[in-house]
Amino acid sequence: MKALVYHGPGEKSLEDRPRPALQAPGDAIVRITKTTICGTDLHILKGDVPTCEPGRILGHEGVGIVEEVGTAVGAFKPGDHVLISCITSCARCEYCRRGIYSHCVEGGWVLGNRIDGTQAEFVRIPHADNSLHAIPPGADEDALVMLSDILPTGYECGVLNGKVAPGSSVAIVGAGPIGLATLLTAQFYAPTRIIMIDLDDNRLAVARKFGATDTFNSGRDPVVSLVRELTDGKGVDTAIEAVGIPATFALCEELVAPGGVIANVGVHGAKVDLHLEELWSRNITITTRLVDTVSTPMLLKTVEAKRLRPEQLVTHRFALSDILEAYETFARAADTHALKVVIDT
Ligand SMILES: NC(=O)c1ccc[n+]([C@@H]2O[C@H](COP(=O)([O-])OP(=O)(O)OC[C@H]3O[C@@H](n4cnc5c(N)ncnc54)[C@H](O)[C@@H]3O)[C@@H](O)[C@H]2O)c1
Ligand SMILES: [Zn+2]
Ligand SMILES: [Zn+2]
Repeated sequence: MKALVYHGPGEKSLEDRPRPALQAPGDAIVRITKTTICGTDLHILKGDVPTCEPGRILGHEGVGIVEEVGTAVGAFKPGDHVLISCITSCARCEYCRRGIYSHCVEGGWVLGNRIDGTQAEFVRIPHADNSLHAIPPGADEDALVMLSDILPTGYECGVLNGKVAPGSSVAIVGAGPIGLATLLTAQFYAPTRIIMIDLDDNRLAVARKFGATDTFNSGRDPVVSLVRELTDGKGVDTAIEAVGIPATFALCEELVAPGGVIANVGVHGAKVDLHLEELWSRNITITTRLVDTVSTPMLLKTVEAKRLRPEQLVTHRFALSDILEAYETFARAADTHALKVVIDT
C-alpha cells in the first residue's frame, strides 16, 4: 500500500509499505478513505516529537471503512463506516475510567507517533471498540475528518477547560485550524464577545466569517489596550492560547480578567514565564490538557444536525499520490491560505 513515511527531521517520502495486519484481538484494520495533515505532523518533521521514530507512517486523523476486526471487537464489523479518533483508548484502565483517554496506559496519542498512522491506504487501530466511532448514514466525510482531532481539541482544551459561558468574553490567540475550531465550538455557549488574535490577516478574515466579534493583528495592533477597551478595562473571562510559543502565553496572561481562566491548548517546546508577581491576586485559573476526545460523540451529533459545519475549514484537496504537495501547501499556509487539506486515498 502507499504510505507517507517519516525518516527523521526534515525527511519524509511516499512509499510502498506492507498492509498492516491484526496484532491483538481488540484491533481493527481500517481502509482509509480520507485523511488530513495536522500542525503536529509539522512539529514531528521539525524533530520536536522524539517519541516518533524514523520509519513511522504519519497521520492521526481520518475516516474509512472497516476491513477486518480481531476476535474481541464487538462494536464494529467489516464494511462499517468509521471515524478514527486521534486518541487510542482501552476504556478499562484507571485513566480511561476517569474519562482521561489521552493518558490511557495502553494508548493515548499513539497513532502516527508511536505506531503507524493514517496517511496510508490502511491503518491498524488498537482498542478499536473505544477508538473508532460509527458514522451516521449520509454524513459529510470532509466534516468528519475535522472531528478526529481539531474539533475535540478546540472544544475540550479551549472551550470546556476555559469555562466559556453565556454572556462571557473570550479571546483566542491563534487563528489556525485549532483556534478556528475553538471559535466554532465556543459559540455553543453564546459568549457576547469572541476576540481572535493572529499575525495572519487572511486567517483573521476567516475568523470574522466564522463568527468572531473582533479580530486583531498582534504584529500591528496594540492588542492589550484594544481588548481592555472592549471589556470595560477588565480583560477577558477566558483567554485561550492556541499557538504554543512563549509570547502568546504571555499575551494571555495580560488579557485575562480577574476571576478568569487561561486555557492553554498549544504544544510548547520551550519554557514559558509565569508572571505570578502580577497574577497572584487576580483569582485566575490556568488549565492545560491533551485532547481526550471524550466529546467526539456529542460533536458527531452536532455535525449531523448541521449545528456545526467544520467542512468550512477545508481549503484544499489532494490524492494520496500527491501528499508531498499537500504537505508543501499546508506548511506554506501564509502564502497558500491553507487551513485544512483533505487527502483522498
Ligand atoms: N493540546 C492538544 O491536545 C493539542 C492538539 C492538537 C494541536 N495542538 C496544538 O495547538 C496549536 C495550534 O495548532 P494549529 O494546527 O492551529 O497550528 P497552526 O500553526 O496552523 O496555527 C497557529 C497560528 O498561530 C499564529 N501565530 C503564530 N505566532 C503568533 C503570534 N506571535 N501571535 C499571534 N498569532 C501567532 C499563526 O499565524 C497561525 O495562524 C499547536 O501548538 C498544536 O501543536 C494541541
Ligand atoms: Zn493533530
Ligand atoms: Zn485506557
